[in-house]
Amino acid sequence: MHHARLTPFPQGFLWGAASAAYQVEGAHDADGKGPSVWDVFTHLPGKTFQGSNGDVAVDHYHRMEEDVALMKEMGLTAYRFSVSWPRIFPTGRGEANEAGMAFYERLIDALIAAGIEPVLTLYHWDLPQALQEEYGGWEDRRIIADFEHYCVALFQRFAGKVKYWVSLNEQNYNTTNAYQLGTHPPAVQDRKRFFTANHHAFLANATVIAAFRKHVPNGLIGPSFAYSPAYPASSAPADMLAFENAEEFTNWWWLDTYCFGRYPQAALAWLQKTGEAPDIQPGDVAILQAGLPDFVGVNYYYTTTFTDNPRDGATMQRINTTGQKGTTPSSGVPGLYRTTPNPHLPTSNWDWAIDPTGLRIALRRLASRYDLPLMVTENGLGEFDKLEAGDKVHDDYRIDYLRAHLQACQEAMSDGVQLLGYCPWSFTDILSWLNGYQKRYGFVYINRDETDAKDLRRIRKDSFFWYQTVIASNGQKL
Ligand code: NOJ
Repeated sequence: MHHARLTPFPQGFLWGAASAAYQVEGAHDADGKGPSVWDVFTHLPGKTFQGSNGDVAVDHYHRMEEDVALMKEMGLTAYRFSVSWPRIFPTGRGEANEAGMAFYERLIDALIAAGIEPVLTLYHWDLPQALQEEYGGWEDRRIIADFEHYCVALFQRFAGKVKYWVSLNEQNYNTTNAYQLGTHPPAVQDRKRFFTANHHAFLANATVIAAFRKHVPNGLIGPSFAYSPAYPASSAPADMLAFENAEEFTNWWWLDTYCFGRYPQAALAWLQKTGEAPDIQPGDVAILQAGLPDFVGVNYYYTTTFTDNPRDGATMQRINTTGQKGTTPSSGVPGLYRTTPNPHLPTSNWDWAIDPTGLRIALRRLASRYDLPLMVTENGLGEFDKLEAGDKVHDDYRIDYLRAHLQACQEAMSDGVQLLGYCPWSFTDILSWLNGYQKRYGFVYINRDETDAKDLRRIRKDSFFWYQTVIASNGQKL
């Protein structure tokens, strides 16, 4: 299908940008905040690029008003941010910390005053360290009640002000790193524990969505998923089967469970044979089905191409964290699939395939399968940027990337997808969890490096002015 005429972006389309608490706020111990698992993990030797951490990050906590003023100048109509659970409950539960609540209230009020719709993410990976220590965090069912207690406190406080809510951010990517690759806290490599932690996260997600219906009856809620659509390396049946396996194990495992309230059949049967399946207790399916989302948040960066993998073949490998092209090893699950580079696609310096058509495919696959509205809650290009004389950053590569992906959104909408908005990653440069500050995503450059916070000055990149024009024309001038 090639569209002669594209449907224009609708009125009220959310022109956003996104961030996450640990990646921007800094102020890691301010105003009663407790430590999160990331505060502890990034301080362990050798875990992150040059020991980078979010102690200061881009100091959004103290520069929030300045940042919102820049959002207003750019013309944003939505801003996706996350709340740090240990700012609200320093030890994970109990009495809410009013200073933490007050920070988010000031942010939300500032956004609304600037005409920007807040999109609030409840969980972007910064679990209170106390809950990790007390019972192992997501590996214990007690997490469900504690997560609900935290979320309900936010529902009660912000129900009248915040319409769009994201429950869990990239459960798939975070748990794969945390329990298979060992690169995110708690740095486990054990597939059984991986599926257990995920099962509890699904139950927690559905439980808070059910609570949301009572507390925020006019709001909309859904998870944000790191959706990397699978491609087959060829039309050879073995590659097609690997592709089917990959889609089911790396995508439908999460999305079907969120949206249908049940696990996909072939993957579940396989895991029951290997002994890796989670312990599904009586009543669990009812909990999952009582908490289905209103929309799916799509975090899209790249497609992944799969080929056959023998039983003694490739295992999970961590991806390129160096910024050196061509350093990503093949990664897979023996007997199911392994990844292979796609010769048709260019890649970023972190070996991420650049594939705008993949976004069109992603949105259509999800809309057709789940029949729900979608929101692009992340999409962007992490690259080395160069600060030039006169405070200029000429990031034409980022503009090209975003323009092509917005065109893909428009094509998907013309194909019938209901798309609520587009929140590119990210508004300012941020801390990349493992890659420090050299991997930049923002419309706004932050003057800092891995170990030196410098003056943290905000500098509008060329992409800032480009996106400003896009928004002002409601997407007519891409
Ligand atoms: C997804 C995550 O949600 C975000 O935190 C991260 O920085 C980006 N992807 C880029 O990797």
